[in-house]
Order: sequence, then structure tokens, then C-alpha cells
Amino acid sequence: MCRIQRSLWILGIFLIVVPSIRAVYEDYRLPRSVEPLHYNLRILTHLNSTDQRFEGSAKIDLLARETTKNITLHAAYLKIDENRTSLVSGQEKFGVNRIEVNEVHNFYILHLGRELKKDQIYHLEMHFEAGLNDSQSGYYKSNYTDIVTKEVHHLAVTQFSSTFARQAFPCFDEPSWKATFNITLGYHKKYMGLSGTPVLRCQDHDSLTNYVWCDHDTLLRTSTYLVAFAVHDLENAATEESETSNRVIFRNWMQPKLLGQEMISMEIAPKLLSFYENLFQINFPLSKVDQLTVPTHRFTAMENWGLVTYNEERLPQNQGDYPQKQKDSTAITVAHEYAHQWFGNLVTMKWWNDLWLKEGPSTYFGYLALDALEPELRRGEGFISRDLANFFSKDSNATVPAISKEVKDPAEVLGQFTEYVYEKGSLTIRMLHKLVGEEAFYQGIRSFLGRFSFGNVAQADLWNSLQTAALKNQVLTSDFNLSRAMDSWTLQGGYPLVTLIRNYKTGEVTLNQSRFFQEHGIEKDSSCWWVPLRFVRQNLPHFNQTTPQFWLECPLHTKVLQLPDLPSTDEWVILNPQVTTIFRVNYDEHNWRLIIESLRNDPNSGGIHKLNKAQLLDDLMALAAVRLHKYDKAFDLLEYLNKEQDFLPWQRAIGILNRLGALLNVAETNKFKNYMQKMLLPLYNRFPKLSGIREAQPAIKDIPFAHFAYSQACRYHVADCTNQAKILATTHRTECQLELPSDFQKVAYCSLLDDGGDAEFQEVFGLFQNSTNGSQRRILASALGCVRNFGNFEQFLNYTLKSDEKLLGDCYMLAVKSALNGEHLVSPTGNYIISHAKKLGEKFKKKELTGLLLSLGQNLRSLEEIDRLKAQLEDLKEFEEPLKKAIYQGKMNQKWQKDCSGDFIEAIEKYL
Ligand SMILES: *[C@@H]1O[C@H](CO)[C@@H](O)[C@H](O)[C@H]1NC(C)=O
Ligand SMILES: *[C@@H]1O[C@H](CO)[C@@H](O)[C@H](O)[C@H]1NC(C)=O
Ligand SMILES: *[C@@H]1O[C@H](CO)[C@@H](O)[C@H](O)[C@H]1NC(C)=O
Ligand SMILES: *[C@@H]1O[C@H](CO)[C@@H](O)[C@H](O)[C@H]1NC(C)=O
Ligand SMILES: *[C@@H]1O[C@H](CO)[C@@H](O)[C@H](O)[C@H]1NC(C)=O
Ligand SMILES: *[C@@H]1O[C@H](CO)[C@@H](O)[C@H](O)[C@H]1NC(C)=O
Ligand SMILES: *[C@@H]1O[C@H](CO)[C@@H](O)[C@H](O)[C@H]1NC(C)=O
Ligand SMILES: [Zn+2]
Repeated sequence: MCRIQRSLWILGIFLIVVPSIRAVYEDYRLPRSVEPLHYNLRILTHLNSTDQRFEGSAKIDLLARETTKNITLHAAYLKIDENRTSLVSGQEKFGVNRIEVNEVHNFYILHLGRELKKDQIYHLEMHFEAGLNDSQSGYYKSNYTDIVTKEVHHLAVTQFSSTFARQAFPCFDEPSWKATFNITLGYHKKYMGLSGTPVLRCQDHDSLTNYVWCDHDTLLRTSTYLVAFAVHDLENAATEESETSNRVIFRNWMQPKLLGQEMISMEIAPKLLSFYENLFQINFPLSKVDQLTVPTHRFTAMENWGLVTYNEERLPQNQGDYPQKQKDSTAITVAHEYAHQWFGNLVTMKWWNDLWLKEGPSTYFGYLALDALEPELRRGEGFISRDLANFFSKDSNATVPAISKEVKDPAEVLGQFTEYVYEKGSLTIRMLHKLVGEEAFYQGIRSFLGRFSFGNVAQADLWNSLQTAALKNQVLTSDFNLSRAMDSWTLQGGYPLVTLIRNYKTGEVTLNQSRFFQEHGIEKDSSCWWVPLRFVRQNLPHFNQTTPQFWLECPLHTKVLQLPDLPSTDEWVILNPQVTTIFRVNYDEHNWRLIIESLRNDPNSGGIHKLNKAQLLDDLMALAAVRLHKYDKAFDLLEYLNKEQDFLPWQRAIGILNRLGALLNVAETNKFKNYMQKMLLPLYNRFPKLSGIREAQPAIKDIPFAHFAYSQACRYHVADCTNQAKILATTHRTECQLELPSDFQKVAYCSLLDDGGDAEFQEVFGLFQNSTNGSQRRILASALGCVRNFGNFEQFLNYTLKSDEKLLGDCYMLAVKSALNGEHLVSPTGNYIISHAKKLGEKFKKKELTGLLLSLGQNLRSLEEIDRLKAQLEDLKEFEEPLKKAIYQGKMNQKWQKDCSGDFIEAIEKYL
């Protein structure tokens, strides 16, 4: 599953009519006394304008694993007809004495008249019904409006991950209770029914006219959260056969207005499936996949077996119109969902504590897949660099949880689905990959998937598979315990700072580790990690060799080593090639000096890998912020950028500088801007003039870098950037047909507004209001956040806030974000947010509010601002959690300003 859209759990809307005898349970897990083997599921869906509900029955084959007199399963928001519940074994009938319901855990407990016998098979049958809900979980309803007839079409579709199958039928709703499923769907003939497997046969309903019942083929052993079905009248844009060994057939369902648009998911899904099949050397076991684009969806996408669902709102359709970044994010979503077919669907975590075991690999293999399918775009490294940047920044907080952590109730399970688990999970798999090397990694992964196909795993199973493969390939010694080492990365949050001190006389290096906290002065704790050590020396810059030469053990914190390949005193040593493992490094003074000189003076920047270059910048900036170095050293290193040809180090460095620049006071800001201009000028000059970009369009792979260079240069008013951008905007709006990648449109319109007055605002605002194209509106909204006059901006904010249209809500957020990132409107925009907080709280989801407040928090610098924010928002429940984070961020900013900004400015003055 990909990325949470909302984490607020909206409660069901109808009452449950079951006897409720409350009991207190310590245990939130189902008892292990009975095991479901197979479900026969019949669901009749009513979907006309007055009646939207379903009725169903579940016949579950159960194996008694122990003698017991009760059966516990999950059910939520279902009206279960007790009189029709039955339990039989052969000819024997079992009475149900009493039903007990535990609402906290959604347990439905049958207390039986007689004991079930160990190893016997029983058949439990239950009948139930419920309304189709509006909360995008369980079996929910959605709709679309036909653009020609204006008629509303209803549809019903499932979202069972993580704990919502129990809202559609009574079941053993935990990932380890895998079973086979025979699904039969009943519906009016004007609809079509889908589930994970093809339809075998249909027959007329015996009492409802024009209704049919259709049997679907048996679904292979699977967890309940991966089961899916839908009843709809969407259209199939294309049926395609893939090149997988089963010749899997893809169909692509969407509302009619989307037909004819090029869908990224449609194009790459079959290729991805073949790619993974070859990579993992395990065939995709189903015969078809339906891709269903749903008008409303809780997540961006969901990897259900045989019926992958997508959120229509989040899928850029018409390729030409959307910014490259958004296209990439869709491609990566699709790549992620199909990696899940192996990681998650075929091999499933035993429990949600190990959610990362499916999300981490799916994210990482998604990157590899995109690089393999479209190597010219080289997107993988960009994603990895982004994940590293996020990780090193977020994980420096003392409260960050481990990626593998105990979760109990449904809210906690859902709370696991955070970017953090996905990104650190991905970095953890990447670490394993680089640690054991290509050969052993794929052997280990294949044997892991093969051995546990249709089964369940804990993280130790992955470690063991890799350990075995590593041993076979002689990359680890037999006494090395990979589990113990890897557990130190997944069972605790945070990461270490490794300090490397060279003794230039003896050639020895001394290493130690301690947890890195961004907040300096925080008490040292005793956490430690198993840190793989791989050294690279200047004269042999083999950044490709990433298997460890040594380990820094845990709990031993300090280690003295003689390097195998003694570097001379005038060549640098760099630890952790390609930033294979997620730790920061600090070196002794002389080694830093050697690195900086090499980067600045060697023609090839010393052959240092781009991820290491980005990391060296990141590390020195972070070390300066905790006063372990002066900013002087970081700025000394930054000077090398004027010859840096690669995007990643630039992106990392400017990202950090922009954040810190926002915290400076007015006098300091001018110096900072001068510095940024000086730094960005050579970068800007490398790219063609913006006004002529149509003639000199960069290759797709270079667009992100070019867009970055223009937008940063214009932001700091480098050379003629603003004028060039204005010319571009003028030509674009007068020649409406002008084809221009949307990334460049954003720069153009932003500069036009930043440099313009009322007339320019009114014009662009007019374009925004008159545009019917969603992506065009988004671009213009971002640009409108660059306007100088708050009166103008307020006009836009009021306009978008007033509307109920989802798109205008998105536009509001985009504009506010860009205003908060800019320099002119930060404070009035902050005031506007605070004074409209109540309205925002009603309108936006928690995740959006958190993003908004964190953007605001990044700009808070004074105690007064923090206090005011707190006073105004404290009483609004929706803001509780985001507010806490924003206030913390504000306090950190204040601390940085007090302790570090002087040093920062001093360094800037030196390099002006
Ligand atoms: C909707 O379906 C129900 C039966 O499921 C039927 O009684 C009702 O008349 C239908 N309403 C419309 C508007 O078709
Ligand atoms: C169900 O039966 C088992 C014994 O098989 C017992 O330990 C357990 O407490 C019972 N559960 C409930 C909810 O009564
Ligand atoms: C179940 O049966 C009992 C006794 O025959 C009856 O009173 C009750 O109304 C029935 N419940 C339902 C939901 O039909
Ligand atoms: C269509 O779906 C939207 C969003 O879920 C909902 O607000 C609206 O009421 C639905 N329209 C109809 C006619 O059911
Ligand atoms: C499930 O469906 C298959 C195919 O129709 C059938 O052969 C099988 O008997 C069914 N299983 C059960 C338990 O009904
Ligand atoms: C970071 O940690 C502090 C406590 O040390 C906590 O109050 C704060 O909410 C955390 N910030 C984030 C963004 O998680
Ligand atoms: C290092 O890896 C890159 C990319 O995988 C490859 O192009 C290059 O030849 C390798 N260099 C060495 C020395 O193995
Ligand atoms: Zn996922």
C-alpha cells in the first residue's frame, strides 16, 4: 500500500445490533485455537440511488488446532443475523450458547454448546449485512458524474488494508491467517463485478429480477487485507497481455472521461510485472490483474492481489501536462505496488510490527525497477538521495521510533504506515544489498521469497536467508551474526555518528560511535549499532566496493584498526562508500582538510561518489549545527560546488541552506542572499537562457536539474533570471498553445508575480479562475504564492478557501506552501492561517494540516511567534499533534538562531 492519505479514523455511520456483553481483554490478538482454511464468500451489492448496501454470507472452513469451546473472529459495523449462524462438522451440528462482542478489538466470540476437537475440520456459516460506507475503508461506495448526461454513477469497492476486511465480512483479520477464497458476487446486470480472480460462471438471481450471481475462480492462499472486490460500471481503457510466464492479462478500469488519456499505470504495469518475475525468479501466480482507478481512495494505491486500486485524484493522467516530479512519483507508486506482489502478497509479515518487511523492499525494488526499465532517466539515485536527506534529518530527533515496533489496536496498526517506515525500510534493504554484494543479495532474496511463498515471516527470516547466502558466497564469516547486526538498525530509532581519527604516524585509525542528535546538549544515551566499516582511500577511489572490511561492534563503542591498505598521510580516507549504511561520519581535522582540498582542486573531485559528496555536505552542516565544527569548514567545502556537475550534491546543499536562510534576521538575510547569488551564478550560467527554453529544451532526464537551477536562481534574483522568466511567462500566456514543460511554467509565472504588481496578479489570477485544466491550475496556484502584495494574495486565499471543490483546496495548500517558502509573505500568511484555523481544521485532513503547520514551524523564529501560535490553536483538536511538532520546530529554530547564526554569518562573510 502506498502512503496514507488520511490518518483520522472516521467511525462507522450505522448502528450495530448485536448483544453486547463487555469483557476486558489484555490480548488484542486472535486466539490460535482455530485456523481458517477457506472462505466461501457471497456478497450481494445494492447500488441504486436510493439503496446502497450489501448482504452477504461467509462459509468458513476451520481447523481446530486445540480443543476449545469458543471461536473468536473479527467483525466491525456488520449486522450479523445470529439466527442463521451455524457450525457443523459432517452430520454433527453445534449450537451457539452465547455471543460475546468486544468492541475495542472488534472481536466477535461464539461460545459453543460443545467442544471442538483438535485436528477436526468445522464449517462455520454466518449471514450479515451493512450499508456501503463513505469512509473509504471496508466495502465502501464512491461515485462519478457523467460529463455528458450529468448523471451520477455509483460504485462499490473494497479497501481492506490494514484492518478493514472485518467491516465487509466476519473473518480472521490478521495477516498471518492466510486462507483460500471462493468469492461470488451478486449485483444488477448493468454493473460488472471484479475480484482478484476471473469470473467462472454467472447465473440469474432467483428472486431479484435483472440481478446475477457470478462465481469467481479460487484465490490462492492469502491474507484478508489483500482480498478485494468491486461492483461498478467503469470502462476498460485497454486489455493487454503481459510477457510474464502466465501471460497475465491486464485490464484498466476508469470513468469514461479519463479514457483516451495516457495513464502511466497502464503503460508500465505489465513491464514491471515481467521485470520482477525475472528478478525474483518466481512466477506471478495469478492469471489476471485488473487495475481499477477509483474516484475516491484512502491511499494513493493498494496492491490487492489481482485487483490493484488507484486513487484517481493522485494519478496524473495526461502525461504532457504534469510536472516531471509528479510523473516520477506516479511511476514509483506503480513500481512499488507491483513489487508488493512478491513482498507482501506472496510473502507476508506475520504481524504489523514488521510492516517494513513489505514496505521497505517494495520501495527499494521499485527504485531498481524504474532504473532498469528506463535507465536513461536515472531516477533511482535521486529517490535514494531524497530518502537519505529525509532520514538523516528526521531520525536525529530523540523521539523517533524504531521501524519494527509493537502495535496493538487498529489505530496503531494504521499509524505504522508512515513515510518514515517506507524510507528507512528501503534504506535498510539497500544496506543489506550493498553489504553482501550483488550475488549473495539476489540469492538470499530469491531463497527468502521461494521458501516462504504463501507463508508468513518475521524479520529474522530475512536476515537468516541473507546470512546463508552471504556465507555461501564467502562475504561474511560463519561466526558473524547478521541478525544481531541488522536488528540494531531496525529495532531502535536514530542513527550513529561515527568519529574517525587517524594516527598519521602509525597509520592506525580510531573509531567510535554515539547516537547523533540534532539538538545539541541533549544527554548522551547508550544506544549503539553494528556499523559495517568500508574505507576508501584517495589513491584507489573504489566507491563501488561496499562490502565491509570490519565492523564497529555493539556494545563496544571504540575500536582501533590498522587499515589493510595503508593510505599515505597526504591522501584522504572516506568511510561508507555510497552512503551504504545510514550513519554520519566525522573525521579528524587533517582528513577533512584533505577531502575538502581534493573536492575543490582535483579535476574529477577526487572521484568521490555523488551520494558521498552530498553526504559530506550534509554531515558538515549538521556537525556545525551541533557545534562540533564551525560553519567555516562547511562553507569551505561548499566552494567546490562551482564545478559540481551533478544534481544531487547541489540539491542537498541548497536545500539545507534555504532552510537555515529562513531563520536569519533582516540584516543577516541580505548577506545570505548575496552569498546565494554568488554561489548560484555559475550554476545558472550553465543552462540555456530561460526565454529560449522552448528551442533549447533539455532532455527529460535533465529537466529536474534545470528546473532546480532556474527556480533557485530566480528566487535569489541571480543575474537576468527574473527578466528571462518574465519574458517566458509573457510568451506563454499570449501564445496559449506554447508547449512548455510545466516545471518551467512554474518558474516563469512565479517570477512574473514576484516582480510584478496588481496588474500581473489580476491577470494570473484570471488565468487561474478561467482554466479548466487541473494541472494548469495547480501550477498557477503555486506561482500565485510568489506574489508580493498580501492584499492580492488574500484575495486568492479567500477565493480558494470558500470553495468546496477538492482541487481548489489543493491549490490553496500549494499557494500557501510557496508563500511560506518565499520571503515576502511569510508573516501575513502565518497570520492568515492562524485566524482561519477553525475553517482549515474542518476543511483539511490531519496530514495536510501537519504539512501546513510544519511549513509554518520552519519559519518560526521568535518566542512571541511561537507563543501566539500556541495560544491561537491550542483549543482546536485537529491541530493538537501538528501544533506540538511545529512548536518543537520553532524552539529548535530559536536555539539555532541563538547559538549558531553568528557563526553561520561569520562564515558567509568570509566566502562572499
Ligand atoms: C433500488 O433497489 C431496491 C431493491 O434493491 C428497490 O426496491 C428500489 O425500488 C430501487 N430504487 C430505484 C430508484 O431504482
Ligand atoms: C475460549 O476457550 C479457551 C479454552 O479453550 C479459554 O482459555 C478462553 O478463555 C476462552 N475464551 C473466551 C473469550 O471465553
Ligand atoms: C431470532 O430468533 C428469535 C427466536 O426465534 C427471534 O425472537 C428473533 O427476532 C430472531 N432474530 C432475528 C434477527 O431474526
Ligand atoms: C459522491 O461522492 C462524494 C464523495 O464521497 C459524496 O460527498 C457525494 O455525496 C456522493 N454523491 C452522491 C450523489 O451520492
Ligand atoms: C471453490 O471453487 C472451486 C472452483 O469453482 C471449486 O472447485 C471448489 O470446490 C470450491 N471450494 C469450496 C470449498 O467450495
Ligand atoms: C522531536 O523530539 C521532541 C522531544 O525530544 C519532541 O517533543 C518532538 O515532537 C519531536 N519532533 C518531531 C518532529 O517528531
Ligand atoms: C562501478 O560501478 C559503475 C556502475 O555500476 C560502473 O559503471 C563502473 O565501471 C564500476 N567501476 C568499477 C571500478 O568497478
Ligand atoms: Zn506499500
